[in-house]
Amino acid sequence: MSTFEVIIYEKQDGVAYITLNRPKALNAYNVKMRDELYEVQGAIKDDPEVRVIILKGAGEKAFCAGADLTEFLTAPAPVFARQARFERDIWGRFLNIDKPFIAAMHGYVLGSGIEMALCCDFRLASDDAQFGLPEPGLGIIPAAGGSQTLPRVIGRAAALDMLLSGRWLTAPEALKLKLVNRIMPRSDLYPEAEKLAAKIKSHSPEAIMAIKQAVTRGLDMTLPEGLELESRLAKAIG
Ligand code: COA
Repeated sequence: MSTFEVIIYEKQDGVAYITLNRPKALNAYNVKMRDELYEVQGAIKDDPEVRVIILKGAGEKAFCAGADLTEFLTAPAPVFARQARFERDIWGRFLNIDKPFIAAMHGYVLGSGIEMALCCDFRLASDDAQFGLPEPGLGIIPAAGGSQTLPRVIGRAAALDMLLSGRWLTAPEALKLKLVNRIMPRSDLYPEAEKLAAKIKSHSPEAIMAIKQAVTRGLDMTLPEGLELESRLAKAIG
């Protein structure tokens, strides 16, 4: 079904599966992956058959080990790689698609791997997952939204701790900080993601999309604006 090089895109019974597929490079995010994700996002957005999306990483070792360092840290690539990131707003698109995304993470979840997961609505992790933001050690700042999305999810103090110290979190620590919704043995990760997707899919698609909009867009509004948004959405879906 997939015609891509570095991701696999599959669709079954209303669930779309995106697999980051560069296992030999620990699924590091490169320009090709950005282009393919961009294309898939467009398909997901416009495809009424897709009700919920599961995002995962291929191979045994990683969900995603962050930006591809071979592209990122060799001249003149830093400028190119950053430019490429800004030209196609993958992160904004992740956040603006009204269908729920479930990140199912195992092994290394680093840099843009965490940032991609932060654009998802559910974060499930295997109990061996490790979370880190190596950016400060590389002399850069997270540029896939992480400096904004991380503090909104785990709070300012914990986000600054991760971002400034470069400290990695174990899965139980990530759970405690609410960076992830749930942790489980690796063998349960995909079955649990499937179960969650099935549950979401059993609900009205209009209600699910409206709820996602109300919560995610509402968080950036004042309470009166948010209540107005909720009322508009409630009227729209009857
Ligand atoms: N970009 C490109 N290639 C990467 C990569 C990345 N971010 N992370 C890992 N790889 C490659 C390695 O170069 C290696 O390739 P090789 O087999 O051709 O030598 C392969 O993936 C396996 O990685 P390896 O380092 O051998 O695995 P490990 O288990 O010893 O260590 C990590 C795993 C994640 C600790 C280590 O790979 C690492 O620190 N990666 C960089 C993380 C990073 O800084 N990301 C950028 C965030 S902005």
